[in-house]
Amino acid sequence: MQNPESISHLTQREAAEVDEILMGPLGFSVDLLMELAGLSVASSIAEVYKPGEYSRVLVICGPGNNGGDGLVAARHLHHFGYKPFVCYPKRTQKPLYNGLVTQLESLSVPFLSVEDLHVDLSGDFDILVDAMFGFSFHGSPRPPFDDLIQKLVQLHNYAQNRQKYPVIVSVDIPSGWHVEEGDVSGEGVKPDMLVSLTAPKLCAKKFTGPHHFLGGRFVPPSIVDKFKLHLPPYPGTSMCVRIGKPPQIDISALRQNYISPELLEEQVAADPIDQFRKWFDDALAAGLREPNAMALSTVGKDGKPSSRMVLLKGVEKDGFVWYTNYESQKARELSENPQASLLFYWDGLNRQVRVEGPVQKVPEEESEQYFHSRPQGSQIGAIASKQSTIIPGRHILHQTYKELEEKYSDGSLIPKPKHWGGYRLKPKLFEFWQGQQSRLHDRLQYIPQEIDRKLVWKIVRLAP
Ligand SMILES: Cc1cc2nc3c(=O)[nH]c(=O)nc-3n(C[C@H](O)[C@H](O)[C@H](O)COP(=O)(O)O)c2cc1C
Repeated sequence: MQNPESISHLTQREAAEVDEILMGPLGFSVDLLMELAGLSVASSIAEVYKPGEYSRVLVICGPGNNGGDGLVAARHLHHFGYKPFVCYPKRTQKPLYNGLVTQLESLSVPFLSVEDLHVDLSGDFDILVDAMFGFSFHGSPRPPFDDLIQKLVQLHNYAQNRQKYPVIVSVDIPSGWHVEEGDVSGEGVKPDMLVSLTAPKLCAKKFTGPHHFLGGRFVPPSIVDKFKLHLPPYPGTSMCVRIGKPPQIDISALRQNYISPELLEEQVAADPIDQFRKWFDDALAAGLREPNAMALSTVGKDGKPSSRMVLLKGVEKDGFVWYTNYESQKARELSENPQASLLFYWDGLNRQVRVEGPVQKVPEEESEQYFHSRPQGSQIGAIASKQSTIIPGRHILHQTYKELEEKYSDGSLIPKPKHWGGYRLKPKLFEFWQGQQSRLHDRLQYIPQEIDRKLVWKIVRLAP
């Protein structure tokens, strides 16, 4: 993340000028900018406040563009799985705004009047989106927005007695704040999240809440140059980027209440490999990143355990396979004590799987075959790295890599080094763990048993 101090802030005039240029010579239209702004707001909310915990969202929309951004955000929040409500007391009778209202009505998003809202909003909503006034606003807010702003100001007083705090998300400017000076009276809205659009306005320097995001991933170079903007890069394909300091998190307070389908003895497969495959397919279908990443724990002759991540490269009835360096720490420990434990954790599905058993090297031909199926860079990397040994610096790796790259630049076969190959763990114990509410998790253990000289897996339930 870029140092928040180095990010540019715009004056009210500059912000207006940026919009004029975007919608003039640069060919943008107001509805296009509104769409991108609303999407950025919804994306920022989704980054921090997950719909499972913060589902009820009230979007309070003002009469201008900021209100339009709020209407668009409400639509995206609906599609992201939230339950948005909209309070839009001074509707703007223009086709663009009427269209946004119609789109929300077609999704059955409820519109609430000011009178529908309780004095204390803290019990009815989890998120309050303040989309009343943007950077072009000046003067004092008029009714009914003065009262709506007061409801937001009072929210934290009411919420003190509640278990969960509703949060306030302001779009571009906290409503009622001076665009450049900030919360002049000190008695204005104190949002938990501010989503600055295009570039933060000067008042954002006074924002002290935990989550400051930037949205509006469309700023062309000519605007960056003209206004000498320093803006952070957006990660991946995201429509938003955090620009404030990351919040200080109390690790001991991190806690998830898992909600999952039950894991019942009569529903699981008799063979744990089949059950593993089923859960692995679920992890793939859920789009989890690297569901084949697993923690491998080994213990050498000194009796001290060590763990590291490796990638599962095959699972058959005869075991779980991964590839590594046969001269690494893990390999040394496995040669001293050929027993290991594998652990998969599939976040998002609330599942973990433990697999334990003896480990053997895979046959040389199998390692050979897999080695040559890898991209050329990985093959060279495997030769270049004397895994787990001390090296004087990165440059050594790059130098060796470059030399090998040149050596094999003619496309000749890269021979598998002797010190590289696979291991196979033959499972003697499985445990399938599924997180449940109030820590009453499911744990089903599979233990092999010989019955009539046939191996069968006994399934037992362990206390969580
Ligand atoms: C997600 C992930 C996957 C990894 N996969 C492998 C792998 O398949 N093989 C491997 O040798 N190292 C892999 N590593 C690197 C290991 O964690 C570790 O740094 C390396 O194998 C040296 O471990 P050792 O010194 O304990 O033997 C992976 C690391 C991560 C974070």
